[in-house]
Amino acid sequence: MQIVTDPAAMQQLAFTWRDQGGRIVLVPTMGYFHEGHLSLMAYGRGQGDHLVVSIFVNPTQFGPQEDLDRYPRDLERDCDLAAKQGVDVIFAPNAEQMYPPGYQTFVEVTEVTRGLCGASRPIHFRGVATVVLKLFNLVQPHVAVFGEKDYQQLIAMQRMVADLNVPVTVIGRPLVREADGLALSSRNVYLNPEERRTALKLSQALFLARDMAAQGERSRERLFAAITPLLDAEPLLRLDYLSLVDNHTLAELPTIQHTARLAIAAYVGQIRLIDNILLEVP
Ligand code: PAJ
Repeated sequence: MQIVTDPAAMQQLAFTWRDQGGRIVLVPTMGYFHEGHLSLMAYGRGQGDHLVVSIFVNPTQFGPQEDLDRYPRDLERDCDLAAKQGVDVIFAPNAEQMYPPGYQTFVEVTEVTRGLCGASRPIHFRGVATVVLKLFNLVQPHVAVFGEKDYQQLIAMQRMVADLNVPVTVIGRPLVREADGLALSSRNVYLNPEERRTALKLSQALFLARDMAAQGERSRERLFAAITPLLDAEPLLRLDYLSLVDNHTLAELPTIQHTARLAIAAYVGQIRLIDNILLEVP
């Protein structure tokens, strides 16, 4: 496995692969890998000839009060894990290379980023869209793989490639959980034992709603009435949002026709966690 840090060198390598007719797969990440990231790599490995995983803690997607400086990093461990997944190249540029002095161009996906996480993180998706388009230009992938853990991000990236005619197929893959239901996240390392127990309420609330929907419940009001007491009972948990949205447009839904996405974000202590689940009414 090769480690490339220079953006120009990465792009040159990608052009060479393209000239040879190779199919390129990209998994964009911010590192500190867990099984969720590794599942994307395992899937990506089967989608092409050259598998690139980018590791870049992107400053433009963090707000001024957010955890950019504290975001967990361990490049050496990440490289070991990626090598085991058959990754060909780790692309790990630094912030000065990605955003040199004079940098001033940004990509905005407007509608689908307004609600959910966009409401409390106003510049977040502009940073994500910008860095992902830069990564696409540097790595020249045919396919890019994203996780449904960040469902709004996945929808925004599908919107961006469609709207800007970017010749990349954006594929979404299932959210990976711990055995007890907690959605895997690099930020879980911050949770102390008590916070971790509290964090479980997020997935438990989503599972309860999924089961109610599976038994025929369509009403947003009744679903929320059943699950909010679970969350309100937790003194360490502060809800940011609980939203029932259309799977594709992310528009808020009063009732479920066939399927919907239930998405949640909450602070557990100082840590902001997100989770979501597909609801299907038979
Ligand atoms: P990061 O949080 O490192 O996530 C990288 C990819 O892993 C994303 O597509 C995310 O949805 C996926 N992922 C994270 N946890 C997962 C889980 N439990 N199950 C399945 N997939 C999971 O998302 C980012 O980085 C950044 O915003 C990025 C797209 C790299 C742009 O900077």
